[in-house]
Amino acid sequence: MTTVKLEEELHSNTRRTRITYRGLVDGRVAAIKCYRKPLFGLVHWIRALRRGKKIRRVGGPVPPTVYAGWIAELTCFGFATEFLTGYRPMRELLRETDDRDEQIQLIKRLGECIADLHKKGIEQPDCNLTNFLMGADGQIRMVDEDDVRVHRAGLREGVALSNLSNLGARLPPGELPLVLHQAYLEAFGDAGSGIRLDVKEFESQVSEKKQQLRKKRTARDAAPDREYD
Ligand SMILES: Nc1ncnc2c1ncn2[C@@H]1O[C@H](COP(=O)(O)OP(=O)(O)O)[C@@H](O)[C@H]1O
Ligand SMILES: [Mg+2]
Repeated sequence: MTTVKLEEELHSNTRRTRITYRGLVDGRVAAIKCYRKPLFGLVHWIRALRRGKKIRRVGGPVPPTVYAGWIAELTCFGFATEFLTGYRPMRELLRETDDRDEQIQLIKRLGECIADLHKKGIEQPDCNLTNFLMGADGQIRMVDEDDVRVHRAGLREGVALSNLSNLGARLPPGELPLVLHQAYLEAFGDAGSGIRLDVKEFESQVSEKKQQLRKKRTARDAAPDREYD
């Protein structure tokens, strides 16, 4: 039988129906996401499991799954992935530097990462910058697989554009969203024949999505304009 030990809470949603812990699975450090909502928790857990399998089948940049099952300590189902030791959320990395070149390098890596996801048919609709973690070697891994979609026939251009704009909307307006767009197109290379992702359309979707995010934050009483949020 697998032993699961929860050690430290990392993050939870406001209603605390989904809590992520750092913990140990048979002694191995893991990030353990617990689905606590009665009944629906089970539905979400099953969905996470199915999606997790699909993402790994197409070679998505996610940490390996170490456990999926009952968490006795919290009496709910949980999904655990290998803990990304030494990795840091892109939001933190971007917030802590004022150096323009460093910011640009980080955004370029992010653009390449999204191009790679899209090439594999993966769409991460939750483009929160805490869902992308970077290692010391510059590798980016994605977490928060609950809402991820895998398009077997590849992403349609409209979906790709909307997805990239969603991420662009988390960046301060101006140069950085354009750096993201450019890095994405370059990384897509030949695989992107057919995908143009018009820059004007991208910019217009970025500002539209920025408005939506602002509204959401105001509704939640959060500070309206936090950087990289
Ligand atoms: N495998 C992992 N290794 C290290 N940290 C992780 C891992 N998985 C998640 N985290 C951290 O926990 C946070 C919450 O996990 P996430 O799956 O994004 O939950 P939520 O749906 O609540 O946003 C992430 O933003 C990330 O900082
Ligand atoms: Mg998340």
